[in-house]
Amino acid sequence: MLRRRVEPEALDGLAADDPVAEHSRRDLRRVHRCMGTRSLLVREMRRLPAPATGSMRILELGAGDGSLLLGVARDLAPSWPPVDLTLLDRIAVVDARTVARYGRCGWTVTSSAEDALDWARAATGSRGSPDAARRWDLVVANLFLHHFDGPELALLLAAVAASSDGLMACEPRRGWRALAGSHLVGAIGANAVTRGDAVLSVRAGFRERELTALWPAPRSRWRLREHAVGAFSHFFGATRVEANA
Ligand SMILES: C[S@@+](CC[C@H](N)C(=O)[O-])C[C@H]1O[C@@H](n2cnc3c(N)ncnc32)[C@H](O)[C@@H]1O
Repeated sequence: MLRRRVEPEALDGLAADDPVAEHSRRDLRRVHRCMGTRSLLVREMRRLPAPATGSMRILELGAGDGSLLLGVARDLAPSWPPVDLTLLDRIAVVDARTVARYGRCGWTVTSSAEDALDWARAATGSRGSPDAARRWDLVVANLFLHHFDGPELALLLAAVAASSDGLMACEPRRGWRALAGSHLVGAIGANAVTRGDAVLSVRAGFRERELTALWPAPRSRWRLREHAVGAFSHFFGATRVEANA
């Protein structure tokens, strides 16, 4: 079995407007198509109970350019309540066109340029942060949690549990099939940054019940699901079962 190994990814070291980074973020859209991320999220989100307030508050951690959830918004829009979406990422790369496209689906978007670990420290303690005091119906994380290990990963999960009623995360699956796939992303036109990061991502990915094991107690208040999806993905879902617990 592959041992989990978290290493810095090249995309994270590039400036937001570096053309190589822009190319890599476009690559990620194709990677998500191969992983089937959008349809997985749509399926999972359709199962959520209707929000008590009439609108959904969703936070995406490590949201990148926000394009993945835009596809989700388009699929859900005809049957879903309005959504108040915050796209949090260390760098601000959500453009005005993307925000306008969300608007056409009835989703209002706030882009928050913040380190997710700062957000998590604030959400679990008393440090000030614009989004720390907020509660979320749902937190989403895609190709993001695998950047973290040990106490940082536990902190992020604790912050999500403290501030929301649910989490959906679609991460790389750490296994031989996904590793083989990660070596082939050049075939979908991925640049050198994406090709390198894809391999690192799989080695930092998850398997079995690794995220469940890190979810904070008391776990009886949550329905936790963690499993492989398709050839390359690892899904973790947490749903609060005790309202206002
Ligand atoms: C592989 S990309 C995934 C982007 C997007 N979620 C997607 O699936 O297309 C990882 C993203 O996490 C962001 N990121 C990495 N570390 C972060 C941190 N500590 N706080 C906030 N964002 C971070 C990066 O800037 C990048 O946009």
